[in-house]
Amino acid sequence: MNAKPEQLQARGGALLTPRSSTAPGAFLAASAGVRLLVGGWTTRGGTCRQRSTRRTPARWVCMDQGAAPVGTRKSIQALENALQPTAFHRRVTILGSTGSIGTQTLDIVRSCPDKFSVVALAANGSNVELLAEQTHEFSPELVAIRDTARLETYREALRQRGVPEPPHIVAGEDGVVECARYGDADVVVTGLVGCAGLLPTVAAIKARKDIALANKETLIAGGPVVVPLVHEYGIHLTPADSEHSALFQCLQGAPDGALRRIILTASGGAFRDWDVSRLAHVTAADALKHPNWNMGPKITCDSATLMNKGLEVIEAHFLFGIDYDAIEIVIHPQSIIHSAVEFQDTSVLAQLGWPDMRLPLLYALSWPHRLRIETFRPLDLVQVGSLTFRAPDHDKYPCMLLAYAAGRRGGTMPAVLNAANEVAVELFLRNELEFMGIPAVIERTMQRHDTSDWKQTPTLDDLIAADAWARRTAREEAAKRPIYPAGANLETQKT
Ligand SMILES: NC(=O)c1ccc[n+]([C@@H]2O[C@H](COP(=O)([O-])OP(=O)(O)OC[C@H]3O[C@@H](n4cnc5c(N)ncnc54)[C@H](OP(=O)(O)O)[C@@H]3O)[C@@H](O)[C@H]2O)c1
Repeated sequence: MNAKPEQLQARGGALLTPRSSTAPGAFLAASAGVRLLVGGWTTRGGTCRQRSTRRTPARWVCMDQGAAPVGTRKSIQALENALQPTAFHRRVTILGSTGSIGTQTLDIVRSCPDKFSVVALAANGSNVELLAEQTHEFSPELVAIRDTARLETYREALRQRGVPEPPHIVAGEDGVVECARYGDADVVVTGLVGCAGLLPTVAAIKARKDIALANKETLIAGGPVVVPLVHEYGIHLTPADSEHSALFQCLQGAPDGALRRIILTASGGAFRDWDVSRLAHVTAADALKHPNWNMGPKITCDSATLMNKGLEVIEAHFLFGIDYDAIEIVIHPQSIIHSAVEFQDTSVLAQLGWPDMRLPLLYALSWPHRLRIETFRPLDLVQVGSLTFRAPDHDKYPCMLLAYAAGRRGGTMPAVLNAANEVAVELFLRNELEFMGIPAVIERTMQRHDTSDWKQTPTLDDLIAADAWARRTAREEAAKRPIYPAGANLETQKT
């Protein structure tokens, strides 16, 4: 158990080779073996390495190595700057302005016009009427539309509204990248869906914009490249995901070495009260009925598979430099506690609030300030009444375990997990794949990557190539209509 990291790497590589390339759960079973051997050693190197047994989580984390400004000299400097008596105003660019995150960000801007203004907006182009409405109301200098075929309809929608000063309009994927790095925006909100957010986020960082990160897929697929870029360009990347915002808030002022464990709460998604036997027959409409949150279709489906929580485990690893063994998931049906941290002395700090994404978005935009907002409903604990918790059911949620396995494998594997998931979810939502086909497609894609092109220290090009390969491979695997049998080979993970 006391092997050095390089020995562990070698052993891990051997164990990850699936025993059978097609047996469901083989990848997870192999990964469970790796977890036993690795026993909490982080392979990130540096001084943060620590040993632990499987039952005792890693005792140290290195917040300094993560993307979020916590436990660092940088975060203290930002707090000092915030205390200077200058008026607070931030110029905001929103990628994905017509989506759930985008519209809620604009709601904040609408509520606090003296605190925020809009520099640029980007959207895919599916809802040009809303984009034109937003252009009319917020007067951005630049608007990007990814789908070039929708440009003319957007221009017409602007004409119909008599927008006095039409913005500069750019189109295509390059247009979205241009929007991300455009002008004098202080902060870019990434509300795009999926890995499409990666290149615009990289461009924004290189243009020295702060990032309010909602688009978790960017960090999951691009973490090995994005985290060093955040440090190189000296920007602030603040999490807007509600769970990571909760962790970020709890970690303000905590010194490096203070954090012992992270507890990520999960609502449990659409099927939290369903028996696992019913999952074979669920439809896209069933999966899109989230009990607590109103979100876009991809993340709502990810909540139903609990892949969303698995992705958030990898996101937390990259944001806070924390070892996977020290990240726990707990089902909390009320979604009032958005997540919690445990410090070395076993003290646990949690952040509470109604399930309303505007609160974490506001904090991501205003950190380290605390702005007074009259339009948000204050939490009423008496009205909440009771808070309950339970362990996640692994039989029901193999995606969650696949995410842990991908995170532990590291390198290009999280990008492959993410891309395979995007494809599988898209096919499921189009009724071209069964619900339990989602984990089956992801696992098979991961297995094939593990024995072919996995790279430990990928470049941006490697990550883009892994993403493209995983999308092709996931489509091939989905064409075979695989199904993940409930509970297959997961026993080793539960102990
Ligand atoms: N919604 C939430 O409460 C929530 C919470 C935590 C994290 N997140 C994360 O935030 C991100 C956005 O989620 P969402 O729920 O807001 O999604 P959504 O409602 O589906 O909105 C997506 C937005 O991105 C635009 N878009 C999609 N692909 C694009 C592309 N290739 N180029 C430019 N624009 C593109 C869409 O434009 P069109 O309208 O033109 O299609 C839309 O404006 C996801 O990564 C999600 O995981 C969301």
